[in-house]
Amino acid sequence: MVFTYIRNMEELLQQIEAIKAEIAATVANTPDAVEQYRIKYLGTKGLVKQIMGEMKNVPNEQKKEFGQILNAFKIVAEEKMIQLQEALGESDEQGGAKFDFTLPGDPVAVGTRHPLNLVRNQMVSIFKRLGFAVAEGPEVEDDWHNFGAMNLPEDHPARDMQDTFYVQAASENNAAWLLRTHTSSVQARVMETQKPPIRVICPGRVYRNETISARAHCFFHQVEGLYIDENVSFADLKQTLYFFVQEMFGKDVKVRFRPSYFPFTEPSAEMDISCQICAGNGCNICKHTGWVEILGSGMVHPKVLENFGIDPEKYTGFAFGMGVERIAQLKYQVNDLRLYSQNDLRFLEQFKSV
Ligand code: DAH
Repeated sequence: MVFTYIRNMEELLQQIEAIKAEIAATVANTPDAVEQYRIKYLGTKGLVKQIMGEMKNVPNEQKKEFGQILNAFKIVAEEKMIQLQEALGESDEQGGAKFDFTLPGDPVAVGTRHPLNLVRNQMVSIFKRLGFAVAEGPEVEDDWHNFGAMNLPEDHPARDMQDTFYVQAASENNAAWLLRTHTSSVQARVMETQKPPIRVICPGRVYRNETISARAHCFFHQVEGLYIDENVSFADLKQTLYFFVQEMFGKDVKVRFRPSYFPFTEPSAEMDISCQICAGNGCNICKHTGWVEILGSGMVHPKVLENFGIDPEKYTGFAFGMGVERIAQLKYQVNDLRLYSQNDLRFLEQFKSV
């Protein structure tokens, strides 16, 4: 309806009543329709404004009375607007329940990260900052990648049934399949597919046939490291690992290297750090020595490089392997390895704020 010229008061009153009836009958259940209503009645060129504009035509003595009528009319139009908006607020455009964003949220019980994941992630992020990429390999592995390629001779005691879980024993035609006993198998996988320079760390789960106790488990986790390029030296190995433990445990940590033997490295060394539980004063974690072994390492054996067609005259490399459980034990004072796999919330929830 378009409001036009009003000839007299009577006509104005009729006009107002007609518009009020129209307003009362208005149905608007979409945001668009409500907006149409607003523009038509309450907009700057809307009917309410136009009717109010008629005040100037009303004789002075009737202004007070008509003023009240017009105000009441305006309120009717505005209240309808509020009604329409409220009705709309209770449902969305598709008619579904509408979400009230102003309500306080229900508390969400946030889970905790497993301490081994926390520590693994920290380890990965430290090595990433040194330019190491992450590589992964299969947990069910063949004899070659787990043992042969890593220069573990056929009669090496580590291959013994006592230590290794075999999925399928070797037969005349087939090599054995097994659960990898160390993440060094991923070194083999990486050297098979990548050319130097190689700089990777390989986090993963490994398996050994051990009796489960506070100090041993039949599966645990390692992070392997491998760096092959021209002129990589033992000094690079030491500095890399020293940087790692300082980032992991803080600047006060002390390290020592002890000569050791691994078939896949020459020379080989194990690294100890000052005990993080007793600060070197002696406790049962460090067996009262003040030192705890955290990893094995060394310069990649020339035979291992040759196994993958990498020229040991041109390239050298270092490798290391460490246990995630051990690092987590020292960082969070976990005194029983079994806690990591028992899913006891009283244990796991302690890592909420870490
Ligand atoms: N694979 C060894 C283990 O499971 C750890 C290790 C030692 C890895 C020396 C290495 C290394 O890469 O160079 O006990």
